[in-house]
Amino acid sequence: MKSNIDPSFDGANKVVSMIIDRNKHLSGALLPILHDIQHHFGYIPKPALALIAQGLHQSEAEIYGVISFYAHFRLQPTGKHIVEICRGEACQAMGSTQLEHAIKKQLGIDYQQTTQDNSITLEPVYCVGNCACAPSVKVGDNVYGRMNAEKFSRLSDQLSSYAISLDEPLVKE
Ligand code: FES
Repeated sequence: MKSNIDPSFDGANKVVSMIIDRNKHLSGALLPILHDIQHHFGYIPKPALALIAQGLHQSEAEIYGVISFYAHFRLQPTGKHIVEICRGEACQAMGSTQLEHAIKKQLGIDYQQTTQDNSITLEPVYCVGNCACAPSVKVGDNVYGRMNAEKFSRLSDQLSSYAISLDEPLVKE
């Protein structure tokens, strides 16, 4: 059988193979393998699909189907900051849908995409435990409450210039 494994993926091959070997005896091994690969690389490099398929005796299409089913998994590297917009009930009741549209328009990207300057990747999230201050946006470990388009514009400027210290968010509330 012809192998689709990318030869330029050499260094990473070892890591992916180790992850596969460590998990393949588990029942439902695919998900822990995908989680570990994404944890290591920050995303799932496309050449890893061939290795996983080979290791688990499945087709690449099956692996790809699982990756596309879960919004959590990414096939592209992320930008410097991951901005998560809360789509939970409390946030929706406080206007997160309009906020989501405004943020997508400001950044010029949709969910799972990254800005051209590589500073921000946008993702949805479902409750970040800050319902009392909805609508919420999360950047890394920081949660920003009572977010609106104007505050987000200031925040994204800071993220784009890398000037912000995420330990001390300037527009937290
Ligand atoms: S629903 Fe958004 S923080 Fe809880």
